[in-house]
Amino acid sequence: MDYYIGIDLGTSSVKLVLVDGNGEVRKNVSREYPVCYPKSGWSEQNPDDWWEAICGGMPELLDGIDGSDVKGIGAAGQMHGLVVLDREDRVIRPTILWNDGRTSAETDYLNNVIGKEKLFEYTGNIAFAGFTAPKLLWLRENEPENFSGIAKIMLPKDYVNYRLTGEFCTDYSDASGMLLLDVKNRCWSREMLDLCGISAEQMPRLAQSFEVVGTVLPEVAERFGIGSDTVVVGGAGDNAAAAIGTGTVGEGKCNISIGTSGTVFASGSRFAGDVREAIHSFCHSDGGYHLMGCILSAASCNKWFCEEVLGTKAYGERESMIDEGLLGRNEVFFLPYLMGERSPINDTDATGMFVGLRPNTTGAEMQLAVLEGVAFAIKDNIEVMERFGLRITESSLCGGGARSRLWRMSCANVLGIELKIPESEEGPGYGGAMLAMVGSGKYETVAECAAELVKFRETVKPEAELTALYAERYAKFKCLYPAVRELYKKIKE
Ligand code: XUL
Repeated sequence: MDYYIGIDLGTSSVKLVLVDGNGEVRKNVSREYPVCYPKSGWSEQNPDDWWEAICGGMPELLDGIDGSDVKGIGAAGQMHGLVVLDREDRVIRPTILWNDGRTSAETDYLNNVIGKEKLFEYTGNIAFAGFTAPKLLWLRENEPENFSGIAKIMLPKDYVNYRLTGEFCTDYSDASGMLLLDVKNRCWSREMLDLCGISAEQMPRLAQSFEVVGTVLPEVAERFGIGSDTVVVGGAGDNAAAAIGTGTVGEGKCNISIGTSGTVFASGSRFAGDVREAIHSFCHSDGGYHLMGCILSAASCNKWFCEEVLGTKAYGERESMIDEGLLGRNEVFFLPYLMGERSPINDTDATGMFVGLRPNTTGAEMQLAVLEGVAFAIKDNIEVMERFGLRITESSLCGGGARSRLWRMSCANVLGIELKIPESEEGPGYGGAMLAMVGSGKYETVAECAAELVKFRETVKPEAELTALYAERYAKFKCLYPAVRELYKKIKE
């Protein structure tokens, strides 16, 4: 039997998944690593922690199988993080992550001084604090010695591929989130590189996600106990990989993910973008394009509320204390902006907030408000996509949040659409393994692979009464952020 390894390099852990040649998930292994928050709104991670976590998990993943049966590896990774290496291939500083908000000045400069029109012309996108280009500007301004020592710039999963193969490359889907790629024409933007003071030599080679970029280095083959002919594909940003793992390929499909972040991902075969909208226009890992809205805190809101406020990790137990009759009738609202917010409001000053508390408010009502607040923020993104002319009538739903029955129900009813839950819960990791299958020749195209392998176990349907109740509540939710936008700026001063 042949095997494929998918690597999902997430924010709180790496998830390794072993998939056999029939597409069955044979084993899952995960290893956690810390996120460091050196200042309010900052978040960083050490790339060596990623690599050690991967190496630490491999023996367990591969236990009991013949390593020479492993044919390919595909990595999916948290997007936008700035990994910088010096001439000796040493990591220069911790990676500034996708949800780090330190670059508000650089983002303002890009959007307002260079101008959104120019950025859109160069890249097909406008600037967001989490994107990679503002981070480079921040580094140039605040850590000039680190900036001048940069020999290689890459994204998190590219660092993993570099350690696996020694090849310095990235794929189009992940590269799209750097604000350095001309997305429509699939090449680095000369103007953006100049603006950030970097050269093409510092940038990785561009590859398709399903393209073989190399084979594992001999020392890696030996350490993992696999063949040195095991191929590694370009891989993808975690959302583009999750999309593949949920069959969101080709024209007009949608996937919603509730992971640490929350995303709405709409696939298409042609480039589409609009300078006025805070939605991303990126390359997809199937060779096409996609639109994406990203909220910075999704499942992380529930994790925060359970662990920090309620003092428990027993998520399921807490959720069972929420009466389903409360759906659509909860008077508490929650703004889920724990790390500021990306799409569509693009505001690093925004913070989390409860509204509507009374002396008899229960913890259960507050927790449901957290789940609903995330669903409302996802709806904000779907509304913007509809302004692009998309009509989203159904979607797949993946990520840790999809395991929660109440979250699935809140989302289906807030969004008023059917949600299909895939059989494989390993979204990005499974997508990574599928890319490896295509790269190693098992399937000719990503679309063919998805049509054959992706299956759904459940469809969550919206109910007319709940959808109507949630429409009223969403109208109220939408009034909240505009009412406190200025307040967020004041309390930051
Ligand atoms: C997408 C984004 C997040 C990260 C999470 O633009 O920033 O979804 O990829 O890992």
